[in-house]
Amino acid sequence: MTRLLEDRFGRVATDLRVSLTDRCNLRCSYCMPEEGPDWLANERLLSDDEVVRLVRVGVEQLGIREVRFTGGEPLVRRGIVDIVRRSREIDPALELSLTSNALGLARMAPALAEAGLNRVNISLDTIRAETFHTITRRDRLHDVVAGLEAAHAAGLGPVKINAVLLRGVNDDQAAELLGWAIEHGYHLRFIEQMPLDAQHGWTREQMVTADEILASLEAVFDLSPAVEPRGSAPAELFLVNGGAATVGVIASVTRPFCGDCDRVRLTADGQVRNCLFAREESDLRAALRAGASDEELADRWVIAMRGKRAGHGIDDPTFLQPDRPMSAIGG
Ligand code: 5AD
Ligand code: SF4
Repeated sequence: MTRLLEDRFGRVATDLRVSLTDRCNLRCSYCMPEEGPDWLANERLLSDDEVVRLVRVGVEQLGIREVRFTGGEPLVRRGIVDIVRRSREIDPALELSLTSNALGLARMAPALAEAGLNRVNISLDTIRAETFHTITRRDRLHDVVAGLEAAHAAGLGPVKINAVLLRGVNDDQAAELLGWAIEHGYHLRFIEQMPLDAQHGWTREQMVTADEILASLEAVFDLSPAVEPRGSAPAELFLVNGGAATVGVIASVTRPFCGDCDRVRLTADGQVRNCLFAREESDLRAALRAGASDEELADRWVIAMRGKRAGHGIDDPTFLQPDRPMSAIGG
């Protein structure tokens, strides 16, 4: 390894998020528009070979130690199992995980585990079918529950659940979801909603804050701060009823953790994004297709990190929401 992905503030990215597609089979209101959007054209998407090559450059030349595949929904990408297998071959010690809505996971979990995937993070905001439909605009709660069970059974654990609370939709269901997650052995984390919706409809006032989430959980459970150091992990962890179970709160907006960020993102069309909220991207796909060597790709990637801002600046009056929604950037 020759270099690190270090920015001007001394942060070093070791955690790579790779979006494998901008497509998804759900339409969560905080992420996707109801209709559309216009998908990336196929020729703009990185091929399986190109994805694996960039993962290899990240791992071998730039100190990447953890790779998380995202989307859109990564399981709708046909080559997913193969991409996981080939990424595993790069380095047996690489942490490999997937952020998924779990549709199709019931079928694919054993093959993913066998290919070398370590863990999954599943997005689930409610265990009520009606609310699930309101949020995702699809009737697929049953498939998600089956996917979670299959992931657990395949050893893709600890299985984490990410939940977003929406005011007036599911903000009264936090404790219910936590009780259910604990009962099934899943690790639940609530994420404050970020301005990454396709409609640009996010407002600070509508966002359910970490304080509100904790208050509604504390009406039912006794929460005490977990002592383990947080490091670069964005979730603040709490012990539930003093016992073995924990709950996490990711207060991306009200308690930003940008100073400890160790992430870098690669979009499905081969652009390096040094932050979810970056306004510039750096085109590795063009370089790759123009015949760049591994070293040249690594050079570009290093340069792309220099422009990383100190923080997301959501509270700055000059804050501009990224043009591309979460589904195109990758969680
Ligand atoms: N704010 C916060 N979390 C979001 N996610 C998607 N869009 C948003 C948003 N606007 C979550 C999903 C998924 C992960 C990739 O990010 O629920 O778990
Ligand atoms: Fe799909 Fe995830 Fe976006 Fe929901 S949040 S629409 S599951 S990509």
